[in-house]
Amino acid sequence: MSRIVYVNGDWVPEEEAKISVFDRGFLMADAVYEVTSVLDGKLIDFAGHAARLKRSMAELDMESPVTEEELLAIHRELLARNGIGDGLVYLQVTRGNPGDRDFAFPDPAAVKGGIVLFTQSKPGLADNPVAKVGMKVISIPDIRWGRRDIKTVQLLYPSMGKMMAKKAGADDAWFTEEGGVVTEGTSNNAYIVKGGKIITRQLSEDILHGITRAAVLRFAREAQMVVEERPFTIAEAQAADEAFVTSASAFVMPVVEIDSAVLGSGKPGPVAARLREIYLEESRKAAV
Ligand code: PDD
Repeated sequence: MSRIVYVNGDWVPEEEAKISVFDRGFLMADAVYEVTSVLDGKLIDFAGHAARLKRSMAELDMESPVTEEELLAIHRELLARNGIGDGLVYLQVTRGNPGDRDFAFPDPAAVKGGIVLFTQSKPGLADNPVAKVGMKVISIPDIRWGRRDIKTVQLLYPSMGKMMAKKAGADDAWFTEEGGVVTEGTSNNAYIVKGGKIITRQLSEDILHGITRAAVLRFAREAQMVVEERPFTIAEAQAADEAFVTSASAFVMPVVEIDSAVLGSGKPGPVAARLREIYLEESRKAAV
């Protein structure tokens, strides 16, 4: 059965969904996006994703084509129309179609932003078997632009990073700056655990302000775990007791190997496992 997708106010079968060749999302990567997970038919951390979308648009002087209430209603109708139990909702807002190619932004009064949403059905999303064995990551230089806090669709380098990881027999890549300092993963935030302390890079324009990150750190602190928000290097990570990543699609996912160095016993550690459990439990309770 083909999916029903939402395109600028219309509900259409995916085969019929169309965007103009002049859409700035296509021509200029002039678009922002969000990915929200769905468990048992309910949206996880919706308010956080809606707030970050608003912030991404504000940072780029983009006007929202819908209100937050409309956005929630569209998400819910999309889930219902596609019968989604577990999966993801992908949302993209572009600066729209000015009818021609031009570097300058169009007048927002004349050109309305474009908005597209589609679902990905992933039954058993929370029971991903990778969580039991952990991921292998490699490090690659972070050559992305300097506003990684804005969730734009400029995903070419993260895609290249995934391909480099695949070629190296790994699952994902962590981006690093000079001295091997880790920024984040290709599509997730990165953490290490040493002596029971959870260490993750502090928020700035250098990384995406993960919605899962915010929730996981809150739950960790509530559980009396010690959290240190500071940069760490690949060398420090390789000597850590544990490592993990967080994202809307992976939740909390253990990392067991970094640039071929095996962490601890080579098995997912107890802190990552506990945080995954707490995150899934608490966010299911708060799901809308
Ligand atoms: N990626 N850092 C980057 C670069 C990301 O692309 C993502 C999310 C995250 C984690 O953010 P959150 O916890 O809000 O999902 C961090 C999504 C899942 C994606 O591109 O598919």
